[in-house]
Amino acid sequence: MTDQSISTSPIPQHVAIIMDGNGRWAKQRGEQRVKGHQNGVQPIRDVVETAAKVGVKYLTLYAFSTENWTRPKDEVDALMTLLASVIESEVSTLHKNNVRLSVIGDIPSLPSEVQMKLQEACKFTGTNTGLTLTLALSYSARWEILEAIKKYTTDILNKKRDIHDLTENTFKQYLETANMPDPELMIRTSGEQRISNFLLWQLAYTELYFTEVLWPDFGEKDFIDAIIDFQQRERRFGKTSEQL
Ligand code: FPP
Repeated sequence: MTDQSISTSPIPQHVAIIMDGNGRWAKQRGEQRVKGHQNGVQPIRDVVETAAKVGVKYLTLYAFSTENWTRPKDEVDALMTLLASVIESEVSTLHKNNVRLSVIGDIPSLPSEVQMKLQEACKFTGTNTGLTLTLALSYSARWEILEAIKKYTTDILNKKRDIHDLTENTFKQYLETANMPDPELMIRTSGEQRISNFLLWQLAYTELYFTEVLWPDFGEKDFIDAIIDFQQRERRFGKTSEQL
């Protein structure tokens, strides 16, 4: 199946993905977990290319959670090394394709080399107007919400905000995803059916799509299948079918 077989509308503006199953993919082959992460890079390229091609404007990938810091040090180090090298090697392709790279999460907690590469790549692609590719790194939604509350409260103390201004619209400007629309579609691979502390605020009305495919095996066809499934959903936002 290719993009020719999907309707042109509705294309979700924002798709978020929990890339899961790298470890199991490696284990099935008798390989170290890191091999699964290495083989998780090509699906990222495929999904970025397909998303841009079909007209998705925002793609947000859960690449490293706050909880992932508790993994064995060897695996965390390997992931950080991979991240630094992939950002460096992919930035020119992203730029050529008019993709803007952005990051969300506790970026200062990442190794300084990774921070530097991210900063450079985000700056280099910063004025691109095509797809916005956001990597969630050292990210968890509860952390994000608490940080937003701290910033909001600081603004109240500094008299920049009033408690009575606190609405969904003002609050969401304090989240890491300020200025991005909420995802319409969230995909999780590997058969797990959980949100795992990803975008808890933003996923309130998101269509959830779970597939058994392990992330290193995920490709263009799987992404298109998820969009076709999304296009068949009726999104009611609390209303009845008749009201739509
Ligand atoms: C989840 O699989 C995957 C991760 C925690 C890391 C995702 C990283 C990549 C896809 C590669 C590099 C990323 C970038 C952005 C360059 P898992 O290890 O939890 O798999 P398991 O559940 O089978 O153990």
